[in-house]
Amino acid sequence: MRAVVYKGPFEVAVENVPDPTIQHPNDVIVKITSSCICGSDLHMYEGRTAAEAGIVFGHENMGLIQEVGSAVKNLSIGERVVMPFNVACGFCKNCQRGFTGFCTTVNPGFAGGAYGYVAMGPWVGGQAEYLQVPFADFNCLTLPAGTENEADYALLADIFPTGYHGAELADVSPGESVAVFGAGPVGLMAAYSSVIRGAAEVYAIDHVQERLDKAAEIGAIPINFDEGNPVDQIKDMRGDGVDKGIDAVGYQAAAAGSSAAGGEQDEVPNIVLNQIIDVVNPTGALGIPGLYVPTDPGGVDEGAKRGALSINFGRLFEKGLRLGTGQCNVKKYNAYLRDMITAGKASPSFVVSHEVPLDDAVDAYDKFDKRVDGYTKVILNP
Ligand SMILES: NC(=O)c1ccc[n+]([C@@H]2O[C@H](COP(=O)([O-])OP(=O)(O)OC[C@H]3O[C@@H](n4cnc5c(N)ncnc54)[C@H](O)[C@@H]3O)[C@@H](O)[C@H]2O)c1
Ligand SMILES: [Zn+2]
Ligand SMILES: [Zn+2]
Repeated sequence: MRAVVYKGPFEVAVENVPDPTIQHPNDVIVKITSSCICGSDLHMYEGRTAAEAGIVFGHENMGLIQEVGSAVKNLSIGERVVMPFNVACGFCKNCQRGFTGFCTTVNPGFAGGAYGYVAMGPWVGGQAEYLQVPFADFNCLTLPAGTENEADYALLADIFPTGYHGAELADVSPGESVAVFGAGPVGLMAAYSSVIRGAAEVYAIDHVQERLDKAAEIGAIPINFDEGNPVDQIKDMRGDGVDKGIDAVGYQAAAAGSSAAGGEQDEVPNIVLNQIIDVVNPTGALGIPGLYVPTDPGGVDEGAKRGALSINFGRLFEKGLRLGTGQCNVKKYNAYLRDMITAGKASPSFVVSHEVPLDDAVDAYDKFDKRVDGYTKVILNP
């Protein structure tokens, strides 16, 4: 089959790789109809992880069941399904308590597995024609038959639940004010989820104009951090800070005035963490779905290379702020968010800027990585 294969920093290729096969009776093979490119893929693409050449990318996967193992109970051939990016077993201690992002079965020696991702286990990615899904009864979320809402449902694999998770970690509640750092796909979904949860005011901070425009489309207040410290901008507008803050940027945070794509010398890995501590009012809460890593070969200094960042913990303590972080437990939210889409109460696909054939992946990675030409969220259709 054809698949997107990582070759080295800033290089992917669409190549032939072996077709996946049923390895265990509870596996299924899914014929991929949609697989999205994620900001998380860019960390590998840019050589900012330990990813080695040969990985097939793709953790945001959706398609039709092509083949079922003999022990599969709840799925049948032809059914439309979307898979959480987390590969999970359903029976380990963490899965049993709903923490499917920290499954201890699927990636031995580590808590958490994913398709097509460095250090997340042996699971081949789905930016390809077919995908092997283990523990399939647990990992496949069934969808209404047909092709309706394809782009909306595809976002259930990661960014819609992940944005929602950011809002959940920050405990965003009706009437509150929320500052969402990053108006990439995850930030836009966190802003959208905050709106869904009844926030009165949502600020979206970024410096890519198309992304700020998308945030404004859903009623968020865009803040361009190239035009001044975003904390000061928000405090000047409101007279005080906000109730809640969400970091949907992560460790590759850019300094004001830097290129949209960041770049080593433009990076300030702790800037957003310190800004959300500053902008959230005392007793508030921070949700941090943005990715931070324990090892970063391209880190700006010795500390950053080991994931050790300087954050203003004294201020956090003084303000009595709570915070939550980590991989999203997609399965905790995906069925509810699916039902909102089906009922017409949520349409997350407003973030999708491009839907292209698998063979255009090389160009799509390049443009999405540079955050140019409005590339906000790309779906590959094999
Ligand atoms: N926790 C999870 O389960 C999970 C899942 C998916 C993605 N992620 C992570 O979430 C983050 C966002 O993902 P994405 O797909 O939206 O990525 P993205 O790179 O497309 O978006 C990040 C955005 O942040 C903006 N930005 C950079 N520096 C900033 C700053 N100082 N202040 C405000 N905005 C700034 C960029 O311009 C960009 O638009 C990534 O770190 C990704 O790895 C986490
Ligand atoms: Zn993703
Ligand atoms: Zn498990």
